[in-house]
Amino acid sequence: MNAGKLKIVLLGPPGAGKGTQGDRLVVDCGIPKYATGDILRDAVRSGTALGLEAKQYMDAGELVPDEVVLGMVREVLASPESRNGFILDGFPRTLAQAEGLDTLLADEGFKLDAVLYLGVPDEELVRRLAGRRVCPGCGAVYNVHTSASAAKGTCDSCGGALEIRDDDKEDVVRNRLRVYSENTEPLLDWYRTSPTTLHELAAVGTVDEIYSELLDLVGCS
Ligand code: AP5
Repeated sequence: MNAGKLKIVLLGPPGAGKGTQGDRLVVDCGIPKYATGDILRDAVRSGTALGLEAKQYMDAGELVPDEVVLGMVREVLASPESRNGFILDGFPRTLAQAEGLDTLLADEGFKLDAVLYLGVPDEELVRRLAGRRVCPGCGAVYNVHTSASAAKGTCDSCGGALEIRDDDKEDVVRNRLRVYSENTEPLLDWYRTSPTTLHELAAVGTVDEIYSELLDLVGCS
């Protein structure tokens, strides 16, 4: 894959490690990451109209309506930073979003280099999400099982108090996994038969092991 101006999608179930791996690619590939979940959580925190609309869906583990998310992605793809490449994390998540993305890319004169799918079994996803702790201040992500902060409950980077994401509660996680299998998993077949290259990784093992496979695929260093 040509590392310059790389345009990729990170696809995978909740807790697969899209955010964790995407943040590393941002550094090594020098391109921005657009995570629809992060954009929506920022809007919820800021209390904007978008945030107020999105919150009800996010709290229940349901998907925010396609037209809302497509509007957000249209905006970020039109930004000057996107000319140098980008990582889409958590988008697309429905067939309508995947088709909408194709239109948005064509409008901007872009072509996706690859879709990177991170596959993880459900029981491991549940374990990762139950152990996730996030810093609302700086956005750092930890895991009590595999990457705990040095001082329990405190962010290593900014000293903020760590939190459990509202949608990481057990019943909401179960619904997110159901919503994923009904709405997002079908995208795998869609990309298998589309001209865009799909790389399917078994994303189990350490973060470093999985990242090393991803780096080999995308060619940044
Ligand atoms: P979003 O924020 O996108 O959540 P998600 O896709 O469910 O993904 P997560 O952030 O939970 O997981 P991740 O894959 O990034 O894993 P992470 O790296 O953090 O979406 C939230 C909500 O917003 C949705 O439910 C929906 O309502 C809405 N939304 C967002 N996008 C939308 C869209 N396009 N359309 C409609 N609605 C949308 O890792 C998880 C944990 O595991 C961490 O603690 C991490 O440290 C740990 N970990 C990572 N890798 C490993 C490893 N290899 N081994 C052990 N632990 C690991």
